[in-house]
Amino acid sequence: MESVWHDGDAVGYLDQRALPQRVVRERAGTVEEVVDAIRTLAVRGAPAIGIFGAYGVALAAQLHSGAAFDAATASIREARPTAVNLAYAVDRVLARADHDYLAEAKAIHAEQRDVDARIGRFGAEVLPRKGNVMTHCNAGPIATGGEGTALAAIIAAHRAGKSLHVYVDETRPLLQGARLTMFELREAGVPCTLITDSAAAVTMQRKKVDAVVVGADRIARNGDTANKIGTYGVAIMAAHHGIPFYVAAPRTTFDFAIASGMDIPIEERSPDEIRITPDDPAYNPAFDVTPGRLITGIITEYGVLQAPYEDAIADLETRARIVLSV
Ligand code: MRU
Repeated sequence: MESVWHDGDAVGYLDQRALPQRVVRERAGTVEEVVDAIRTLAVRGAPAIGIFGAYGVALAAQLHSGAAFDAATASIREARPTAVNLAYAVDRVLARADHDYLAEAKAIHAEQRDVDARIGRFGAEVLPRKGNVMTHCNAGPIATGGEGTALAAIIAAHRAGKSLHVYVDETRPLLQGARLTMFELREAGVPCTLITDSAAAVTMQRKKVDAVVVGADRIARNGDTANKIGTYGVAIMAAHHGIPFYVAAPRTTFDFAIASGMDIPIEERSPDEIRITPDDPAYNPAFDVTPGRLITGIITEYGVLQAPYEDAIADLETRARIVLSV
C-alpha cells in the first residue's frame, strides 16, 4: 500500500489517521495542505515525511516563485522538527542543479525502496530463528514509502522461514502500534499480539521476549537515537531483562552534524492529544532519545552498526550516497 505518490498537480497520500478502519487516499494540491498533512500525522514516519516533503517542494515550484517559493519550502522543511529525513529530503531536492525537483523527489522515493529491502535483509539476519520480538510505534511500509525499517526486518525474517511472533506496543497517545503496526503485520501474515505500553515490562518478565526492534527519527554521531515517545523506556526495560535492543534506520536518518542526542529537537504536541479535561496542564513530548549505550546494534542498509558508535557512524558518513540494489 503506497503511502505517498506524485499525482499530477498534487501530491497523493494515504491518510494514515483513518487506518485501520478505512483506507482513505487524499491529494494535497497546495503547500499549506502538504504542511498540514505532515503536522496532523496524516503522513507520518520519518522516511515517508521526507519523501512527501520532497514531492511538496516540486509542487511548490509549480505554484510559487522567488520569495514565496523560499517561504513555501521553508514551511515544509519545518513542518515537524525531530525526524531529520524531512530536512534532508527538502535540502537535497533544492540542491538539484537543473531544478528538476520532481525527478529528485522520485529518486529519493526509489532509493528508499532499495534501502528498505537491504535493511530488511540485514535485520532478518540478527533476529532469532524463533521467538518473540517486541516493537514500538510503527516503522513499517506506510512509514517509509518502501518496505519499512523495523518491520522490514521482521517481515523479511518471517518470509525467510523464521518463526517469529511480535508483541506490539499500542504506542500512546496516537496508537501507531495498535492501528498501524498491527494492521501491517497481519497483512504480512506475521503472528502478533497487541499490548498496552504499560504492559511492556511484564511482557518481558513473563513472556520471554528475545529481541526488541524499533525505527528511528534521528540518530546522533554517538548513536543516541530519537524515536517515538516511550522507546527510551522500552530500551531501559530491555537492558534490565538482558534483551537485545535494535534500531533499524536508513543513512538518511543519521544527523552527522550533531554529537549527541541532547542536540536533537524534541517535538512537543498539543496537550489536547492526551488530556481528558480541557484545562488540565499536560506535557506531551512526541519523541524521546534512547542513549546509544542501550542499543545493541543499528541496522542500516550498509549493515549492522555496533558500538563504539562514534567510529561506526563516522564510517557510515563517508559512504557515498549511491543507488543501491539488493
Ligand atoms: O510521530 P510519528 O508517528 O511520525 O513517529 C514515527 C516514529 O517514531 C517511527 O518509529 C519512526 O519515524 C521510524 S519510521 C520508519
